[in-house]
Amino acid sequence: MGKKLIFGAVVGMFAISYGCSSGAGTTAYSLEDFEFPLESTNVANGTEVYAEFCEGCHPGGEEGDGPKISDAALSPAKVRWQVRVGGKDMPAFGADKISDANLEDLLAYTATLGTVLR
Ligand code: HEC
Repeated sequence: MGKKLIFGAVVGMFAISYGCSSGAGTTAYSLEDFEFPLESTNVANGTEVYAEFCEGCHPGGEEGDGPKISDAALSPAKVRWQVRVGGKDMPAFGADKISDANLEDLLAYTATLGTVLR
């Protein structure tokens, strides 16, 4: 019994440290990677992407589990960064969840809220 517990603890510790080192799988982004103009005007698709991934914490751009983001007037690069890298209490959304094209449409929608500048 005692041995089993110790074995479990060792496996658990290995799993945790392995999990941390493989956390390097998170792509290292620099803000410059995101410095390009916002060209999408596909607000309709952006609304759907927002509803699926953002609405829960920023309802209609207002405060929820996340802060109010309407009228934040951020650069497109800053918002792309925020979505891809996440924050302290905001999850990161990789291209597996929100494709580059969907991210641009998402920004077109958030531009209508004043979150992102065109
Ligand atoms: C689980 C809740 C949660 C979800 C889902 C979420 N956010 Fe956030 N968001 C936050 C929190 C909390 C912050 C405040 C900063 C932090 O803790 O990272 C934030 C900050 C932001 C900011 C920065 C605001 C500023 O004034 O600097 C932007 C922009 C933003 N979120 C956009 C989005 C978008 C777009 C999505 C959808 C792809 C999204 N968020 C999904 C919780 C969330």
